Amino acid sequence: MSNYHIKHLEEYFQVYRKSVRNPELFWSEIAEEHFLWRKKWNKVLNWDFTKPEVKWFEGAKLNITENCIDRHLYVRGEKTAILFEPNDPEEPAEHITYNQLHERVCKFANVLKSRGIKKGDRVCIYLPMIPELAISVLACARIGAIHSVIFAGFSATALATRINDCEAKMVITSDGSYRGSKTIDLKGIVDDALEHCPGIESVLVAKRINSDIQMKAERDEWLQPLLDSADTECKPEIMNAEDPLFILYTSGSTGKPKGMMHTTAGYMVYTAYTFKNVFQYREDDIYWCTADIGWITGHSYIVYGPLANGATTVMFEGVPSYPDFGRFWDIVQKHKITQFYTAPTAIRALAKENLDYVTEHDLSSLKVLGTVGEPINEEAWHWYNDHVGEKKCPIVDTWWQTETGGVLISPIPFATPTKPTYATLPMPGVQPALMDENGNEIDGNQVEGRLCVKFPWPSMARTIWGDHQRYRDTYFSAFKNKYFTGDGALRDEVGYYRITGRVDDVIIVSGHNLGTAPIEDAINEHPAVAESAIVGFPHDIKGNALYGFVILKEVGESRDRNNLSREVNQQITERIGPIAKLDKIQFVSGLPKTRSGKIMRRILRKIASKDTSNLGDTSTLLNPEVVQEIMDNAL
Ligand code: WT7
Repeated sequence: MSNYHIKHLEEYFQVYRKSVRNPELFWSEIAEEHFLWRKKWNKVLNWDFTKPEVKWFEGAKLNITENCIDRHLYVRGEKTAILFEPNDPEEPAEHITYNQLHERVCKFANVLKSRGIKKGDRVCIYLPMIPELAISVLACARIGAIHSVIFAGFSATALATRINDCEAKMVITSDGSYRGSKTIDLKGIVDDALEHCPGIESVLVAKRINSDIQMKAERDEWLQPLLDSADTECKPEIMNAEDPLFILYTSGSTGKPKGMMHTTAGYMVYTAYTFKNVFQYREDDIYWCTADIGWITGHSYIVYGPLANGATTVMFEGVPSYPDFGRFWDIVQKHKITQFYTAPTAIRALAKENLDYVTEHDLSSLKVLGTVGEPINEEAWHWYNDHVGEKKCPIVDTWWQTETGGVLISPIPFATPTKPTYATLPMPGVQPALMDENGNEIDGNQVEGRLCVKFPWPSMARTIWGDHQRYRDTYFSAFKNKYFTGDGALRDEVGYYRITGRVDDVIIVSGHNLGTAPIEDAINEHPAVAESAIVGFPHDIKGNALYGFVILKEVGESRDRNNLSREVNQQITERIGPIAKLDKIQFVSGLPKTRSGKIMRRILRKIASKDTSNLGDTSTLLNPEVVQEIMDNAL
């Protein structure tokens, strides 16, 4: 029996039971029936969470682009693979067929080869949401180069840190990008970054905004002329199942960003399988995920998952507010979108605007709605359900992470009854566990704990690039023999999961995962700052916003506090990017600390959230007097 496409609840339970009872059989049947292998595996799964080491489909050989492109050419060569919707609604959309995608990926791959890129080399991609982004990702995969896409909202410093961490040889960028009514000088940011990146040998530059930029001799080249003269065929590099496919950085609660490394076969099988089921994808659908390919959502559910299923996937260059707040719904109507996948923060922002922006569009093509990135609050869920889905479209609240590669907990539309704010049930093959503080698994329902996964799934990250010890420490040491997600969750009376939020020092702002430590490091570099602490507080659009408590070096510092606040945010923008800016900055004379010197963030979180009725016992603090001062001056 094929378990590839689940159609109703009973089938889900059957499939789920099988996937848990015999995971190897379950995944090997799916892999066998739905993908193209150059050689089959010798062993479906090898795993040991104590090392940790996880290998799926060992011995198999394949190329993921053959699965995402070549094998579709016979059956759907003239079907649109990528539908590009530009920032400017007046600019025509571009329909790239599977045949054209094949040619463009092959040409790009040949350009990479001609510039010395080989299997295993790292290529950093710093591009806006234009077709070249997806094409360059696939071109790397075609020749076995490891892509590392860096979200084009990151600053030069953040870009340089990532380039150096993965020791990339090449950067692919563009002359600039459009973002609503603004243009951004991407190439200038790359130039700044590369001042600190001695390992970069070449930079390929796509033309997008026709700006006048500097091209550094011997290093920078315009992409288009190279593509024009490149060969239209490029034989795929035959990869081993566990060869790295990409590195994608995510912020940690401490230290530098973590380069999550994903490998080939398991990632392909899992993202394709979950795409099919989470979105109930069918051949004629037009699927749109509004994420950026700079995040894992874009990797798995704009590029790889949809293309592995031969789908039409929309790439949108712009923002939801340009030229007005009806842009998303305009695109849904224009392209007759069937599945629409976005972030709660976008929903909350649009729900604040006039409802006419929604109602004046024909959204009747929609069948399934999705959310990802953070918990969705009940109000936003109902607005989405009532006005966008017109109560006819199931909402899939998909919980997952950069580390998990694909969706782990989500309803299956038309099978799993949805429940607002609940991600509901685990995908087949996924075995969640809730753990208590003592490290014991909590059985039964109506319980709450720390969310772990106790059995491997095919698309889990295999390591942190260059730092396996950190991988083990971060994810496999809190609970013995389990992958720890960093999230808290509860399981209701029927076994549905609800994600309650991070239990570590990661804060999700507008769906972006931000670690407190890198932001604090950035602030502390300001010459007037001695120390700082960042916490999150509830924000009605962003979900969480950042509140910074800052100690200045000079007790009597006379400089204007507003100017200092601006400088602190400027510092963050330069070091990380504007997404990490603080909403509130309070200058304090001290931070509440334990006797061992650890900042008591719990207290700061309560103050930032204006929830000071129950601060708990502060008498054991090193400096209890500072709490009152901070409360008195809270913003
Ligand atoms: C963290 C992972 C998965 C791609 C985008 C974010 C939070 C994600 C949900 C959801 C509640 C969610 C978690 C998770 N998160 N989806 N549906 N409900 N929380 O990837 O940047 O790696 O962040 O996002 O806290 O751990 P990421």
